[in-house]
Amino acid sequence: MIVVLLGPPGAGKGTQGERIAQRLEIPKIATGDVLRAAVRKGTEQGLAAKAYMDAGNLVPDSVILGIMKEVLASPSAQKGAILDGVVRTVPQAEGLAVMLAELGRKVDSFLLFEIDDDELIRRLSGRTVCENCQTPYSGREPGTACDKCGGKLVRRRDDEPEAIRQRLKVYREQTEPVIRWAKEHKMKIDRIDASGDRDEITERAMKAFTE
Ligand code: AP5
Repeated sequence: MIVVLLGPPGAGKGTQGERIAQRLEIPKIATGDVLRAAVRKGTEQGLAAKAYMDAGNLVPDSVILGIMKEVLASPSAQKGAILDGVVRTVPQAEGLAVMLAELGRKVDSFLLFEIDDDELIRRLSGRTVCENCQTPYSGREPGTACDKCGGKLVRRRDDEPEAIRQRLKVYREQTEPVIRWAKEHKMKIDRIDASGDRDEITERAMKAFTE
């Protein structure tokens, strides 16, 4: 099963993606996590992506499609994958569709997280993430240890107010058109209310796949 998670920054794609992946026993692939790991390692890809990411802008489509090509060919993705934040522009959606078609596969569902801006800003302003495994936390101070791997919790540079505003603008202008594109191509779009309790949101998402 191939599921693409769509939704604005802070909607909970990372949080829910992890849970859904566990439930479906398939890997979660997040381009943001792949890029942040490349930045930390100081690879050529990471150095090229850093300035875009820190400012809240998208990295070029060619970089993302390159990452996706590698990921989809890997043995771990053969049963399926939860793609978190992978498709953020119409050219990316088109590119992914072509890659999947070459493998005899397709996107089974676009899972769209819907939530209002005030809640997003509240969540992102209070977020820390593990610099090692990228697990997001709320209400935990930078410098404390990750429950999962013991890594250090840090604030993301793109969670500063100016970068959050820019990410929301980019989402409206470049990512929302993907929803129209998917509709035009008669693809399955499952909209879920992404506000409220984390467990309830997971149940809403799982229910959407079975309808
Ligand atoms: P990426 O890392 O994907 O960031 P994003 O899409 O902006 O999403 P976030 O990670 O900020 O939020 P989320 O929806 O995952 O929410 P989370 O679960 O953490 O991308 C970063 C950058 O990389 C992009 O700006 C771009 O530069 C680049 N990039 C990546 N992919 C790209 C692509 N395809 N094309 C081009 N560029 C790309 O939750 C947020 C917070 O809320 C957490 O603290 C969490 O604990 C908390 N929370 C979660 N659920 C709840 C709840 N139900 N109630 C209360 N709090 C909650």
